[in-house]
Amino acid sequence: MRTQVGIIGAGPAGLLLSHLLHLRGISSVVLERRSRDYVERRVRAGVLEQGTVDTLDEAGVGARMRREGLPHHGIELRYGGAGHRIAFDKLVPGRAITVYGQQEVVKDLIAARLAAGGDLRFEVEDVAVHSLESEPYVTFGGERLDCDVIAGCDGFHGVSRPSVPEGVLEVFEREYPFAWLGVLAEVAPSSEELIYARTERGFALHSMRSPTVSRFYLQVPADTDVADWPDERVWAELKARLETVPGFELATGEIIEKGVTPMRSFVVEPMQYGRLYLAGDAAHIVPPTGAKGLNLAVADVRVLTEALAAFFEHGSSELLDGYSRACLKRVWRAQHFSWWMTTLLHTFDDDDPYGRRLQTSYLDYVTSSEAAATTLAENYVGLPSD
Ligand code: FAD
Ligand code: DHB
Repeated sequence: MRTQVGIIGAGPAGLLLSHLLHLRGISSVVLERRSRDYVERRVRAGVLEQGTVDTLDEAGVGARMRREGLPHHGIELRYGGAGHRIAFDKLVPGRAITVYGQQEVVKDLIAARLAAGGDLRFEVEDVAVHSLESEPYVTFGGERLDCDVIAGCDGFHGVSRPSVPEGVLEVFEREYPFAWLGVLAEVAPSSEELIYARTERGFALHSMRSPTVSRFYLQVPADTDVADWPDERVWAELKARLETVPGFELATGEIIEKGVTPMRSFVVEPMQYGRLYLAGDAAHIVPPTGAKGLNLAVADVRVLTEALAAFFEHGSSELLDGYSRACLKRVWRAQHFSWWMTTLLHTFDDDDPYGRRLQTSYLDYVTSSEAAATTLAENYVGLPSD
């Protein structure tokens, strides 16, 4: 079997890449180890930057997102007994975010690929990549797929990145001493906009998916077992961390999904080796506080598509050779922003009173200085592409 681009992983990165390549007349095969049902149900991110929304729209897969997604023009930072709005409409006019679940993006992309006769293989076993320096190929379940290039879109735990010979990739990494407990609940959101809450009990985030479904996250210890968080405990803790301003009451409902996400910052440089190109979580991870993971994956894929189009249409390797360099500027900006949002809003076990006052004084600055608020806003809605 032969294709131009062998894509490992049917997450947002792999599926979008396959779709964008198809629009440029470039063939691909997507190999995914999970079932279609599993990837369509996997609850993860929910905030799409302006550039991500524009990319999905331009690629012709934005119709349902436009109908069902929730455009937001601000977020609230809640701390010290008060809420403070970061007003995108005023600080970064014309740029906004859209709240639309990652698994909805995945569903839309799978539907578009299948409608176009795309070759997506789910539940493939033993995927391995070979001969990365030239004439690369992929093996899986006893089959062989020859390709011109391989795109490693298989997330942090995939096989692509570990297949690069030792010593080639430089790893930059930081782990955090906490995780996020995420829950999805059948209850109308108690706020029109997202609330990022810093409290002495830890961080909490109130997000949403629709007028009848809310999404919440709680900072919990890194080794948390989800079984230790029965629904009553989740609601009690959410109330303790969110009902901290006068008059705010958190509506509760049935919890329909619950999971723990570890927090990590991670980058490899370069994001390529020979004929293998890494995109999305396969190359970098951010803690989710800045809502950047999914958006970075989309940005990588935009760059990779242009580079592959130049390669296949004109035989030019220049953009492919510069792929990693072109991505890393945005990747590192998002790394810093995500690390900064995380350190600003979470409690750290080894924090002393000095550290805690630094946090609140910085929050005071961000919520009172237009320049500081603009920095937050322009990073949150996403910097434009170069
Ligand atoms: P993924 O979505 O991870 O897709 C990779 C795909 O490759 C998967 O479908 C996987 O099954 C497949 N795969 C892996 N190994 C193999 C193999 N050997 N063979 C074949 N296929 C393979 N970001 C936010 O902004 N906010 C959030 O709240 C948030 N929550 C998250 C919760 C969790 C549990 C995780 C893991 C991530 C979360 N993220 C969040 C990050 C965001 O979801 C990711 O950045 C985004 O999914 C990246 O897309 P991707 O396509 O690069 O990787
Ligand atoms: C969501 C996730 C995030 O990581 C974030 O910063 C904001 C919202 C969400 O899943 O809705």
